[in-house]
Amino acid sequence: MKDELIKDVKARYREAFGTEPLLIFSPGRINIIGEHTDYNDGFVFPAAVDKGIAAAIQKSDTGVSTAHALDMDSTIEFQLDNLKPQAEGSWENYVLGVVAEIQNRNKVLGNFNIIFRGDIPSGAGMSSSAALENSVVFGLNELFDLGLSKLDMILISQKAEHNYVGVKCGIMDQYASMFGKKNHALLLDCRTVKSKAYEIDFKDHQLMLINTNVKHSLSDSAYNDRRSACESIAELLGVKALRDATLIDLETVKDKVTPANYQKALYVIQENNRAIMAAKALEDGDLDALGKLIYGSHDGLSKQYKVSCEELDFLVAQARMNKQVLGARMMGGGFGGCTINLIEKSATKAFAESVSEAYLKAFGKACSIYFIALSEGTHLVN
Ligand code: GLA
Repeated sequence: MKDELIKDVKARYREAFGTEPLLIFSPGRINIIGEHTDYNDGFVFPAAVDKGIAAAIQKSDTGVSTAHALDMDSTIEFQLDNLKPQAEGSWENYVLGVVAEIQNRNKVLGNFNIIFRGDIPSGAGMSSSAALENSVVFGLNELFDLGLSKLDMILISQKAEHNYVGVKCGIMDQYASMFGKKNHALLLDCRTVKSKAYEIDFKDHQLMLINTNVKHSLSDSAYNDRRSACESIAELLGVKALRDATLIDLETVKDKVTPANYQKALYVIQENNRAIMAAKALEDGDLDALGKLIYGSHDGLSKQYKVSCEELDFLVAQARMNKQVLGARMMGGGFGGCTINLIEKSATKAFAESVSEAYLKAFGKACSIYFIALSEGTHLVN
C-alpha cells in the first residue's frame, strides 16, 4: 500500500507540474500505553506504523504555492506572506500551520507545490494529522535546506497543531511519526523528549486494531479542557507538571479540587506509572502483566479521565470476554477511533469475526480491523 501511495503521488505530481518531485513518506502511529500523559510531561509508548502519508513536493516559480489533497480532491493556493488559519476542521490548517511556524523561526521559504495522499483512516486515532504535518515540514526542510533537526521539525508540527488546528496536543504523535523505528516501540519521556527503543516481538501474540469508525465531535474541546484541568492541578500542587506529582501529593489537595478533576489527575499519575511498568513487563517478557496494564489504562480513560465512548467501551468489553485477548484499550485522544488489542495470534480470526458481528448488531454499523507493522519514521523515498 505504501508503495502504491508513493507511485501515485509521484505520477500525479509529474502530470500536474511536469517536474520530478521529492518524495516523502510519513507514518501514523499506534500507542501501546501512556495515554494523555504526554502533555503532563510523562511517559508514552508509541510506535510508527506502515500506514501514513505519501507526499510529493517541489519548488514553484509561479509566484504562488499550492497544496493538493488527493483523497479529498481539494486544492488550495496561497501566498507565503499572507497565511491565516482556515475554517476549523479543514485539512489546510495542517499545511498552512507548518509553513507559518517555519517562518516564525525566521527561516526563509520559497514557493512550492505539494501533493499528498494517505491510507490512515481519518478519525482512527492513529495520527494522520501528525503524519501530514511531519511530511510537510520534512519536505520543506529538504527542499529549502533549512537546517532543521528532527526535534526542531516535530516542535514545528506540534505548534502548527496548537496555533492553526486549535488542539493543544502533546508531543507523542509528532515524535512517533518522525522518530519511529522498524519493529520497535519507543518509550518516550515527554519532558526530555528522548526515547528508548524496545524491540517488539510478541511471539505467539500480536497487536490488532479495531476501529469503531466513529469520531464524536466534542473531542477537540474536551481535549483542551482535560489539558487545562491537569495544568491547574499541577499549579495547585506547586509542580511543573503532573508527572512530578505522587499519589500522596494529590491527596493533599483533594478537598481543593472538584471530584471530577481529582479523578483526572489521579488517572494521569496512575497512567504514567502504568507506562513505566509496561516497559518493565516487556523487558521481563511478561505479556500477561502487560495486558493487565492495558486493560487498567482503558478503565482509567473511560471511568476517570472520561474520554472514551460507548462504542470503544463495547469493543473493550468484547475483548475482556475472550481469554485470548490479554489486554485492550482505547487508543489516542478518545471519543472514537480505535482500540488496540494484545491477542493470541491463533485467536485473531475468530475474534475479528465475533467482534465484527457483535458490533454491527449493537450499533448498526461496521467496525474495521487492522493489523499493522511497526515501521520507520518520516523519511525520503527514492
Ligand atoms: C492525541 C494528541 C497526543 C496525545 C494523545 C492522548 O493523539 O495529539 O498528543 O495527547 O491524544 O494520549
